[in-house]
Amino acid sequence: MKRLPIILDGDPGHDDAIAWVFAKADPRLNILAVTSVAGNQTIEKTTLNARRICALLGIDAPFAKGAVRPLVNPPVTAGNWHGESGLDGPKMPQPDQEMSELTASDLMAKVIRESQDPVTIISTGPLTNTAQLLLIHPEVKENIGRISIMGGGVTHGNWVPAAEFNIWEDPEAAWIVFNSGIPMTMSGLDVTEKALICPEDFPRIEGVGNQVADIVLGWLKFFYMYPMQIGYAGAPVHDPCAVLALTHPEIFQMQDLHVDVELQGELTRGETVADFRSWSDAEKNVTCVLGIDREKYIDLLIDALRTYDGREVPV
Ligand code: BDR
Ligand code: CA
Repeated sequence: MKRLPIILDGDPGHDDAIAWVFAKADPRLNILAVTSVAGNQTIEKTTLNARRICALLGIDAPFAKGAVRPLVNPPVTAGNWHGESGLDGPKMPQPDQEMSELTASDLMAKVIRESQDPVTIISTGPLTNTAQLLLIHPEVKENIGRISIMGGGVTHGNWVPAAEFNIWEDPEAAWIVFNSGIPMTMSGLDVTEKALICPEDFPRIEGVGNQVADIVLGWLKFFYMYPMQIGYAGAPVHDPCAVLALTHPEIFQMQDLHVDVELQGELTRGETVADFRSWSDAEKNVTCVLGIDREKYIDLLIDALRTYDGREVPV
C-alpha cells in the first residue's frame, strides 16, 4: 500500500491532539515529522504537550520545536479554551523521544527534500512554521503536494467577528501560505463548528475502553466546558477535519474557491476572504471544506480509537 507522507504541525491543544489520534490511527498515512508552534499556549507548553501526545500514541517520527511567536503579531494564547497547560485534563505520559536540534521549518525542509513522494503538511495551528519553511527553503515547494489546514472560514470568525484564531494569530504567515501556489484544503469554521462532539457521544467513547480512548474522553470533558458556557451545542472539535478531509473526503461537502487573507482591515485583519462569484476569473487556490456528516465523524472517531487497543503507556 502506498502511504501518503505527511507532516503534523500544530499547537496542541485538545483538538490538535485528537487530530493526531486520527492521523496515527490511519495506516494510509506516513508521519514523517511532527512540529509544534505557539498558539493555544506558549511554545514551551505546546511543545511539551505535543511530545506527550507522541508518547501516548506511539508517534516516533522526528520532532522539532517550532516558532516562538507569530511573524509580526505579538503572541496571544487561548487559555480560555485549552486551560493553563494548553492541554488541561487527564494526566499524560512524559515525552519519550529526543527533540531534533533543527528548527521546525528546517526539519520540515529536510523530510520534504528526502521524500520520494510529495509531502502533505497538516497544519492545525497558526501557520508560522509553514510560512518560515516557504521563506527560508523555497526550493522544497516543488515537493509539497498539499497543505491541509484548520483555519479561517468563509462566513465568520470566532476570536473576533471576522477572523478565526489560527489565521488571526499570524495573518502574515497565512497570507504567505495562501499565496504560495501550493494546493490547499481549508477546514474553516464553516465545517469545524459543525464537527461537534456532545456529552451524548461520551458513552460511546467510554465504551471503547482503552487508554487512548479514556484520555480522549478526559480531554473532551475539559474541552466542552467553555464552548457550552458560551452557547455552543457541544465541543467544536475543529482540528481533526484537517486530517479527515484528506482521508475521508466522503463525509464532507467541499467547494474550490479563490481565498485570500486580509491584512489591513481594522475590523477584518486575519479574515479569509472567499470569492463565490461564479464569473470570477481568480484562480481557485483552496478547496474549502464547508459541511460534515457529524454522525459519521463520531463513527470514525470510535474506529480510530479502537486501533489503540492493547496500547498502554505509563502516565
Ligand atoms: C483553532 O484554534 C485553536 O484554539 C484550536 O486548536 C483550533 O486549531 C480554532 O479556532
Ligand atoms: Ca489547533
